[in-house]
Amino acid sequence: MATEAPTSPPEPPEPPEPPGAPGSAAEPRHGLRLLVAWVVASVIGCLLVYLVWGPHLPPGDMSSSAANQQFDLRVLGTIATPVFLGVLIYMGYALTFWRAEDDDETDGPPIHGNAKIQLTWIAATTAIVLALAAFGTVELVTVQGAGAGEGPQPIWKPGSSSILQVQVIGQQWSWTYRYPQFGGFETAQLELPLNEPVQFNVTSLDVIHGFWAYQLGVKADANPGVNNVAYTTPKHPGSFVVRCDELCGLWHGAMFDYGKVVTAAAFQTWAQQTETQLASVTKILPPYALTYDPTAIANLGKVLVQLGIGGAGGGYYPPNDPEQP
Ligand code: CUA
Repeated sequence: MATEAPTSPPEPPEPPEPPGAPGSAAEPRHGLRLLVAWVVASVIGCLLVYLVWGPHLPPGDMSSSAANQQFDLRVLGTIATPVFLGVLIYMGYALTFWRAEDDDETDGPPIHGNAKIQLTWIAATTAIVLALAAFGTVELVTVQGAGAGEGPQPIWKPGSSSILQVQVIGQQWSWTYRYPQFGGFETAQLELPLNEPVQFNVTSLDVIHGFWAYQLGVKADANPGVNNVAYTTPKHPGSFVVRCDELCGLWHGAMFDYGKVVTAAAFQTWAQQTETQLASVTKILPPYALTYDPTAIANLGKVLVQLGIGGAGGGYYPPNDPEQP
């Protein structure tokens, strides 16, 4: 029988019913299942991350800045948990329920655009990014730079009027510390008092080093000719690790040491005793300054040797320095 010529190309074979499409009575409600599984897993996951894992996250809570960083990691970890679980659950669900049959060689149906999903995606990611920017700014300001180097003129300072000044001097390849409020003595030992705000003035005598007091949550580059200021307040007694975190030469990895947080009384005793013990060395050190001229410092070792007190008080040469005269 004659019919008119077809006006449209022949219909392609009916694509398989998309999963969960309305009308497929046999299909379970995948979207609802996924949503319920995701919400339940996220609530459990967030509680576990924040309450169980959170208190063990680095760098611990030895100081105000460390505790602040740990809190930030707890919050970020908790926010990331639903995203992480969403990806895993969807993938697991798809692998289980939407697996292609062994002999199924057909492509999936082509999909273009979905205003609802696109809008949700843009709105949700915008909200997350802006909220995190606000959170990050607050977290940086409320703890005076969060233990990071703020440069020579810090804008966020502790309110307290009595701040212990500790100068951190990086040099190939050790750290020394000067205490200007105790006559400016210099020592290889880093001691800090409990519950008192500390201002680290970080500098270098030669190349770029990075002062990293791990458990204190303090990290500040040590640049020659620059005073880089970082704040923290020790909250627990004990020892902490000091490392260098800028590759600074052959023995970079040897710029490793321990510092100590002690009670305020023990600190006073230590600082006053050390000031007295090192008085003769302190006299011939360059006067305390926020930066030092690296070319002038290079001759200091010779001066100390001429005076017969080279290396005294853990001065400019570490005990195992091959170049020690
Ligand atoms: Cu100093 Cu690496």
